[in-house]
Amino acid sequence: KKHKVKEQLNLLDQATAFYQQQLASSSERQKAIDYLQKRGLSDKTIQHFQIGFSPSGWDNLLKHFKNLPNPQLQLQSAGLVVHNEEKNRFYDRFRDRIMFPIRDVRGRVIAFGGRVLGDEKPKYLNSSETDTFHKSRELYGLYEARQATRNLSKIMIVEGYMDVVGLAQHGITWAVATLGTATTEQHLNRLFKVVSELIFCFDGDKAGRTAAQRALDISLPTIQDGQTVKFLFLPEGEDPDSLIRKEGQEAFEQRISQSLTLSEFFFKSQTENTHLESLDERAKFANSALPKIQSMKAGLLKQMMLERITELTGLSQAQLSSVVNLHQASHS
Ligand code: CTP
Ligand code: MN
Ligand code: MN
Ligand code: MN
Ligand code: MN
Repeated sequence: KKHKVKEQLNLLDQATAFYQQQLASSSERQKAIDYLQKRGLSDKTIQHFQIGFSPSGWDNLLKHFKNLPNPQLQLQSAGLVVHNEEKNRFYDRFRDRIMFPIRDVRGRVIAFGGRVLGDEKPKYLNSSETDTFHKSRELYGLYEARQATRNLSKIMIVEGYMDVVGLAQHGITWAVATLGTATTEQHLNRLFKVVSELIFCFDGDKAGRTAAQRALDISLPTIQDGQTVKFLFLPEGEDPDSLIRKEGQEAFEQRISQSLTLSEFFFKSQTENTHLESLDERAKFANSALPKIQSMKAGLLKQMMLERITELTGLSQAQLSSVVNLHQASHS
């Protein structure tokens, strides 16, 4: 097993070099270069993230590795080659895509994300899951962020590869992305081992706002005093990459400094469209907000958020928790 992992990592490393070399010299390279230029990426950024290109065709990678003892099965277990059962044929998973290597904390490539150059679907494709690659655990850009800054103090969590890369291109080198999956407790725990402040910055669209709500729900029971979670909301239709290209680093940093804290976002979202003058709506608010705050780990922030509910409802903490606990119990 250990031997197999080593073999996979070795293949992935060589594949990274292959895709980089294709970007540098394949006959199809110009369209990839044009695409990266259109997205505003410099050579330095492309190097920093080891971005490459997989040419069109079904077997470029297979051919490149033809001297391996068993290229088809070896590349398949590295997540780079797919087997078509019906035709009993093996073919390259990534074709005609910009290649983003996904590196682990030690900088070893464990998988790729590949983006089409045009509007074809799917827009992004990831390596298949392997022994070394579990999509829901990984964070794109974490290795690169730690390379760029020795002692990181905060990390921004964004949705996509190009958000991480585009932000870095404009001087914000401390962003990471989940790989098309929702933020998990595992992600948070990993990041809080590195920094004490996280800023969520999702796309300015419905999906992004839902992702922020989910990140809030995950953060509440996870964070402890001394850890900070913030939320940065972008204008409708923008994502971090598109916005920093438009506005530049300084304006984006200005926005970062105005991010909402966890408690600000929590109370804002809990009281949105709520008329707190009305007893009925105050009760509804308390019934929704209190259990969520009670799920938090003991600490000052929890105490203060409980205090805030008493201010907003006019009830004492004892009154609140006796009633809401009963209510919860009768429904579980
Ligand atoms: N994603 C994916 N598969 C897709 C679409 C999206 O895995 N078919 C993931 C990718 O990790 C992507 C992220 O979700 O980076 C965010 O999606 P989206 O906002 O649609 O793409 P962008 O990152 O903005 O891509 P681009 O700017 O290159 O168009
Ligand atoms: Mn710039
Ligand atoms: Mn989106
Ligand atoms: Mn984008
Ligand atoms: Mn986006």
